[in-house]
Amino acid sequence: MTKHLLLGQTLGFSGNPLIGDWADAVQFNSAGGVLIDGGMVVATGDGPALRAAHPDAQVVDYGAKLISSGFVDAHMHYPQTGIIASWGKQLIDWLNTYTFPEEARLADPAYAAEVATRTVELAVAHGTTTLTSYCTIHPCSVDAFFTAAAARDMAVVAGKTCMDRNAPDNLRDTAQSAYDDSKALIARWHGKGRATYAITPRFSPTSTPDQLTALGALWAEHPDCLMQTHLSEQLPEIAWVRDLFPDARDYLDTYEAFGLLGARGIYGHAIHLEPREIARLAEVGAAVVHCPTSNAFIGSGLFDLMGLARAGLSIGLATDTGGGSSFSMLRTMAAAYEIGQLRGVALHPAQLLWLATEGSAASLHMAGQIGHLGAGAAADITVLDLGSTPAIAQRSGRANDIWDALFPTIMMGDDRAIADVWIAGVRQAR
Ligand code: GUN
Ligand code: ZN
Repeated sequence: MTKHLLLGQTLGFSGNPLIGDWADAVQFNSAGGVLIDGGMVVATGDGPALRAAHPDAQVVDYGAKLISSGFVDAHMHYPQTGIIASWGKQLIDWLNTYTFPEEARLADPAYAAEVATRTVELAVAHGTTTLTSYCTIHPCSVDAFFTAAAARDMAVVAGKTCMDRNAPDNLRDTAQSAYDDSKALIARWHGKGRATYAITPRFSPTSTPDQLTALGALWAEHPDCLMQTHLSEQLPEIAWVRDLFPDARDYLDTYEAFGLLGARGIYGHAIHLEPREIARLAEVGAAVVHCPTSNAFIGSGLFDLMGLARAGLSIGLATDTGGGSSFSMLRTMAAAYEIGQLRGVALHPAQLLWLATEGSAASLHMAGQIGHLGAGAAADITVLDLGSTPAIAQRSGRANDIWDALFPTIMMGDDRAIADVWIAGVRQAR
C-alpha cells in the first residue's frame, strides 16, 4: 500500500475538552501533516518535518483546509433514510405514521440493499466515516447494512432491531426469534472486517419482559458485543413505560432488571433522566448519545450535556436519522450548540468537534481506534473547506484564529464543506 502524507491545518485531541480547560485537550497545527500507511495513521505532526522525513510518501496538499478525524455518528436508523424530514408528528405518532410502514419495506432484501448503499453514500458525502445504526427486525436488513459498509471498509456498528409488541404484525418478532436471529447475525458479522454487532432492543415499549430477558441473556453470552437502545426521549413515552412496567423504579430499570444495563450499553437520547438513572449509568460506565436535531425536530426536549458530562457519563453525538433532520454531523454539532444555548451553555467549537469524533468513538468503546487523529488510529479522515459557501467564506475570511474560522462551518456548513474523505487509508469516491 502506498504511504500518503496529507498536509494542511490539522486538528486533533489529546484529552476530553468537556472536562477542565478545553484548550488543554487540543492539538492544532496550522502547517500540520498526517502520515498514512496500511490504512492507519502512523504519524502526525509538523507538515514540513514529516515531508522531509518521508520523501517516499505520496503528498496530498490541502493548503488551508482543515484535516480532522472523520465524523462518528453514534446513533442512527439507516432504514429511515427514505422518510427523513416527515412532517408534523411527535415520537409515538411519528413511529406509527412514518417509520413503521417504511421499516416494513426492508423485508425485501433488494430494497434493504438499496437503502443501505444510499445511506452509506450520504454519510461519506457528509464526512461521516462511522455509522452506528439500528436495522429493522429483518435479518436481511442487517446483512444489507454490513455489506454496504464493507464495500468501503467502513467501521460500523449495527444490529437487528427487536420488537415483539406494540408494533404492526409485519414488524414483530418473538422473544425466541429475536434471540436466535441476533445470535446468528453475531456469528455472521461481529468482528468481521470492521463490523461490530450491537444487540438492539428498540426500546422497552416494543419488547415484552420475555424478549428483554432473552436479549439480556444473549448479551451475557456475547459480552464483547455492544447493546444499543433508546432511553427517556419523550415525556409521553416515559409515561407509557411506567404503565407497561409498573414494578420498574424508572425507565432505566426496565433494562437493568433484564440484564440490559452495562458498560457496553449505548442509550440514545437520555433527556429526561432521574437522579438514580444518571448515577447508575455513571456507575456502570455506560454511554448516552445526544441526538440534537432529532430532539428539536420531534419535540423531545433539551439534553443536559454538561450536567451528564460532569456526572461522569460517556457522551456520543448522533444524527438519529430519520428522527433527526440531517445526515450532517456539522448540522448536528450546530444543533448541539443551539440546545446548549437554550440551557445557558455555549459549547466551544473544540467541544463540538470532539463530541462528533472522539466522544462518539469513546461511547462505542473505540477510543483511539476511530474518531482520533493520531498514530495508531484508523486513517478515517475528513478534510473540511472552511469557506465552502459565499456566506461561510465571508465570515471565516475575517477570522483571526482557528476557532473563529471553524465555527461558521460548524454552524452553517453541510456536505459542501466536505473537501475530501479517507476511509482506512483510501481516498473515497464521492
Ligand atoms: N424510539 C424508539 N424507536 C425510535 C426511533 O426510531 N427513533 C427515535 N428518535 N426514537 C425512537
Ligand atoms: Zn433512535
